[in-house]
Amino acid sequence: MKKRVVPVKNVTRTETLFHNLNSRSQVVPGIGLVHGQSGFGKTTTMTWLFNQDGVNAIYIRCYATDTPGSVLERIVRELGMVPRYPMQRMVDDVIERMRAEELTLFVDECDYVVGSNRIMDSFRDIYDGTDQPVILIGMDQIAKRISHRKQLFNRISDWIEFQPADLADVGMFADHLLEADILLEEDLLNAICKRAHGEVRRILTALEKVESLALANEMAVVSLADLKGREADLFLDFNGKGRLG
Ligand SMILES: Nc1ncnc2c1ncn2[C@@H]1O[C@H](COP(=O)(O)OP(=O)(O)O)[C@@H](O)[C@H]1O
Ligand SMILES: [Mg+2]
Repeated sequence: MKKRVVPVKNVTRTETLFHNLNSRSQVVPGIGLVHGQSGFGKTTTMTWLFNQDGVNAIYIRCYATDTPGSVLERIVRELGMVPRYPMQRMVDDVIERMRAEELTLFVDECDYVVGSNRIMDSFRDIYDGTDQPVILIGMDQIAKRISHRKQLFNRISDWIEFQPADLADVGMFADHLLEADILLEEDLLNAICKRAHGEVRRILTALEKVESLALANEMAVVSLADLKGREADLFLDFNGKGRLG
């Protein structure tokens, strides 16, 4: 299986969000929100975007143990600078550099810090001081929890909820990632889509198993019937009923 980022709908929508935030008019605030269930491809999409030509951004992720100081230090280091205390000096340094280089700040795994007033207010301070986009990324709870933070919430002008991969997306993953001469029939793609519940990691695991089967048996086309009722082998279910092939 090939290793590449597939431009499914969630990916192209995120690209649009990034460009909207960067080309917004002065009256529109510039905080963006990307949220959705674990495994839907948020981190993959943001790191891919971060690496695209013409995308001027820094990416950090938050941790369960984060404090305002540890988050600021991470941003400062990501900007190639040395952390300086008191913390306000770091905020000032970040603001100066982000303004000068017209950078967007991506903050992944925000769920870990959304409960901290000081950390969330620091992101807002950075945004207010730079007018550069700040994109907060997290799971389902983050949108709800941010809505209670009025100051931050009012500055969000663009948001995306990552959707579960649908049949067309599963088809795209198969097209882009499988070795060129293996074709999956629609019934098999459908079964994978249903069983994976839209989770990209589960889809890729299933596709890889189908690919191994096809390579081992020199098959150019694989349908659901070829799995002979063993499609559960493509998934390791949380309920323990699935078996690994
Ligand atoms: N667009 C994509 N193209 C290729 N692989 C993807 C894509 N989106 C997600 N993946 C794969 O699915 C896995 C889970 O995605 P991830 O970005 O970690 O999800 P999230 O951050 O939403 O929990 C990743 O390890 C990656 O291999
Ligand atoms: Mg993630």
